[in-house]
Amino acid sequence: MLGLRRYKGTQIDLWQGDITSFAVDAVVNAANEELLGGLGVDGAIHAAGGPDILAACQEIGRCATGDTVITTAGLLPATHVIHAVGPVWSKDSINQNQLLKKTYHSVFQAAESLAARHISIPAISTGTYGFPANEAADIAFLATKEFLDSGRKTTLGRLTFVAFDGKMYETLQQHLFQRFPDELDDGGF
Ligand code: APR
Repeated sequence: MLGLRRYKGTQIDLWQGDITSFAVDAVVNAANEELLGGLGVDGAIHAAGGPDILAACQEIGRCATGDTVITTAGLLPATHVIHAVGPVWSKDSINQNQLLKKTYHSVFQAAESLAARHISIPAISTGTYGFPANEAADIAFLATKEFLDSGRKTTLGRLTFVAFDGKMYETLQQHLFQRFPDELDDGGF
């Protein structure tokens, strides 16, 4: 774990690997509006989590872009799945940055509704949905800072952002350090 910051009492760290392996209160899925599963994070979560997740998704039905729904994590080491639907990137869209930021805020709100202490978060919309990694990483940590600066007491003591490959890890680390320039503010954890 190379990327590590602490801000307003919440640890923000980075990992590279498969997000399904994290034993956290909630793992965030990069889902679609139909909640039907798919490839990428969605495919991995359903494959490793088993049929209970899809059954719970089908009960719920749909999730609008920018929003989240919560289900069981089935066979995953995590307790819950927060299914987040990010925007599909297009060069003509005018509000996709706002929509992606809204998606991250929806994730934090969903985590707080669970009184979650630790969640793992993928780089939403940067795969199939084509969002440029740099812009998406900047938005992810801008939303994180807005959330932590909101002044509300949060249960979230730890946010782990997960990159699947080295390039995304470096991009996340660059934007994490830009947005949160100070090292650990309390001498470790
Ligand atoms: N663990 C962590 N990160 C992963 C994993 C994994 N197992 N698999 C993929 N990723 C990374 C991708 O490399 C990318 O950086 O997650 C990021 C998001 O990519 P996608 O999973 O493709 O999600 P997204 O771009 O938001 O597209 C969502 O794709 O799989 C479908 O059903 C899904 O329709 C939805 C769409």
